[in-house]
Amino acid sequence: MQPMNRSTILSRLKEEARSCLAFLPLEKTVSSIMKAKPTWPALRIGDLVAPAPIVQGGMGVGISLSSLASAVANAGGIGVIAANGIGLLEPDYYEDGQAANLRAFRREIRAARQKTKGVIGVNIMVAVNDFHQLLDVAIEEMVDIVFLGAGLPIKNIPVEALRKAKVKLAPIVSSSRAVDMIFRMWKKLYNDVPDAVVFEGPKAGGHLGFTEEQLEDPAYQLKAIVPQIVETLKPYEEEEGRKIPLIAGGGIYSGKDIHQTLSLGASAVQMATRFVATDECDADRRFKEAYVTCKKEDIGLIKSPVGMPGRAIRNSFITDSEEGKRPAFRCAWKCLASCKAQDANYCISIALNNARRGLLKSGFVFAGSNAYRIKKIVPVQTLVSELEGGYAKAVESKIARLLAKLETLKTEYVQTQQLMHELAKRYEEALLTMNNAAHSLKQQYTKAALKVETLRLGMAQTLASTSHILA
Ligand SMILES: Cc1cc2nc3c(=O)[nH]c(=O)nc-3n(C[C@H](O)[C@H](O)[C@H](O)COP(=O)(O)O)c2cc1C
Repeated sequence: MQPMNRSTILSRLKEEARSCLAFLPLEKTVSSIMKAKPTWPALRIGDLVAPAPIVQGGMGVGISLSSLASAVANAGGIGVIAANGIGLLEPDYYEDGQAANLRAFRREIRAARQKTKGVIGVNIMVAVNDFHQLLDVAIEEMVDIVFLGAGLPIKNIPVEALRKAKVKLAPIVSSSRAVDMIFRMWKKLYNDVPDAVVFEGPKAGGHLGFTEEQLEDPAYQLKAIVPQIVETLKPYEEEEGRKIPLIAGGGIYSGKDIHQTLSLGASAVQMATRFVATDECDADRRFKEAYVTCKKEDIGLIKSPVGMPGRAIRNSFITDSEEGKRPAFRCAWKCLASCKAQDANYCISIALNNARRGLLKSGFVFAGSNAYRIKKIVPVQTLVSELEGGYAKAVESKIARLLAKLETLKTEYVQTQQLMHELAKRYEEALLTMNNAAHSLKQQYTKAALKVETLRLGMAQTLASTSHILA
């Protein structure tokens, strides 16, 4: 089959679908193909609709605030403000860290609301000491959705207040076991379940919910875990009578990656790294430029003071601290109970805040495994349009492959059908003339008839999968 250009591919598919109607009982499939466009599906979480199936991953200590979140929401995705370390933006953080966090968090949510009518979410770490107070602010400000990571949101979740304020909730997990545990416990404690789930895979930036050994293991990658979580969610979806979308992320770079992830069963992707290199990202330009200039080998792991591995652009600050150098720092208020800043030689919030301000020698930049592929800083809308174009192209090339398969099946089908008619005629003649080839002709006819049925099934399946891709 000749390669097709983008504009002809859909009309070609429609033509094929129509022609197959003549010999396949496929009215429903064909009518859905006729209506189809290779655009990406909207992300629906209950009554919440984001036209683009993209959640911008929350990036703490001031990387994703109102500017980035509102730009993503305006481009059709879910924009997310990260609560973690947000008080470091305030002048009085060292006097009252918690009050500074809550004030800055509320202010950023309100600022985002001023700039967009799109979907705004927040990211809160379960493990921080002011988790409940931050969650209360999110509920009071009626954000659209809260994403809760760095711990399992099981106990003492104000489910009633969330429902009353129409705030959706999605836990961030790194295994299907965690999903099972959260959903089972929620049913028991609240007779309710979360509205969506985010799976953050091992290629992500920032803190990672995996051991170093698991990070490269195929058993922990998106391809393996996404279908497992989809299965885990099924009984809950049936029981609740609603879709519980899975949002998967970690290393997603292109529209093609989005298409692949959605093909695994996810309803949307979570992306963070690519949104750093945008005009609207809230970090200093030097932070963003670190992404543009880094090389593949610069991206590596750190042993974070919070007790988890983290992915970052490795620099002299990291190597110095690994060698025992200890910049003087003051812990403002032990924001995280499990923090081992003394052992790690630095406070991660201060290091990340320095990087956010562009002071890269006094801190470091968290980044996903694909940061080195970024070549320039662009507006968020440009990035989202590029991703959407890449997605459409991926759909179209998959359809082109299926059309080629369909064409082969169709040719074989027509030929085998002709052979079948011929064998039937010869068999009848052999019967009339008492020719002893009759028995063998009958066997050949049965074989051809069976093949025709198999080919017909193959064509039906191929067409159905094109309509599935477009659904
Ligand atoms: C700079 C940076 C900061 C991050 N901070 C947080 C955070 O505060 N909370 C969180 O849940 N995830 C955080 N993440 C993870 C992202 O939200 C996202 O899930 C992940 O990076 C997706 O992978 P990608 O960056 O390859 O797209 C951070 C990631 C980056 C790159």
